[in-house]
Amino acid sequence: MNSTPQLTHTREELAQALSQLEGTRALVMTMGALHRGHLELVRQAQELADHVIVTIFVNPTQFAPGEDYDAYPRTLDADMEALSTVGADLVWAPSVTDAYPTPATTRIDAGPVAHILEGATRPTHFAGVALVVSKAMNLIRPDVALFGQKDAQQLAVIRTFVRDLDMPVRIQAVEIVRDSDGVALSSRNQYLSEEERVHARSLSRAIDEARAAAALGVPLDEVLRAASSVLEAEEGVVPDYVAIVDDDDFTLLAGSGSAAEQVDEDSREKALEAAATQGSLRARILLAARVGATRLIDNADVVISVAGGARHE
Ligand code: PAF
Repeated sequence: MNSTPQLTHTREELAQALSQLEGTRALVMTMGALHRGHLELVRQAQELADHVIVTIFVNPTQFAPGEDYDAYPRTLDADMEALSTVGADLVWAPSVTDAYPTPATTRIDAGPVAHILEGATRPTHFAGVALVVSKAMNLIRPDVALFGQKDAQQLAVIRTFVRDLDMPVRIQAVEIVRDSDGVALSSRNQYLSEEERVHARSLSRAIDEARAAAALGVPLDEVLRAASSVLEAEEGVVPDYVAIVDDDDFTLLAGSGSAAEQVDEDSREKALEAAATQGSLRARILLAARVGATRLIDNADVVISVAGGARHE
């Protein structure tokens, strides 16, 4: 039988509640509006530590003016109820002043990984994520923190600054959870109308097409084209970018849309040359598109053949 987690708001309440927990801690950070994807993070967290701590906070510093900070769904009661079905121990749901008692002037820049793709479209986003994640790490001191693979670039950014700043925490990725129609779960899916929801399926279809092309051993740029052509053909969908990155270090290997200009030819050549000895490269295809007024992202791993003529055309 699971029970409702203890709910804290202020730093003092959080510190007091943490002092009662003996053993290891797993952290799951969220902005609320919890769905099955978040609950899967909590479930996996339970297997990795004695206690699970969940944060629920719509973090203002990761939203730029004009983005959906005000509209972002805030559903604390429903979130607490959902968490009681999976059994987290403690929730920290701070107000903005609990999280930021003074306006933060520090900026954490994880470097190139934070400047391409989402970082190019949303230039202040990852600094805001890095700030709030660092705060939570310092206040909660988890042994392990779990993040969804759905935000693959966010995960890469977090891994980078956690490594560079020697933060004593293990970062654990959790696979994307999808609905039966293939759409990756996201709190923003609730913005979609019924018709838009049907168009939103094109994102996972684009990924499937790219993976099918890769399985045939076609070159990198053809894998990319297989995905972009699905999005371009879909009415009601405006692609922002389709990109393929090296899954180990997030080097951008190929891009279409706004990502095309961000590919650094030297880095791409180096990554492909290194992979040529193996004959293949563990990569990740990422896409972002507007479906109506809602911007959606999706991604999946993909193995790219780099044998022989699989270089750039
Ligand atoms: O992925 C999210 O929901 C947010 O970016 C995070 C990690 C909770 C930080 O606000």
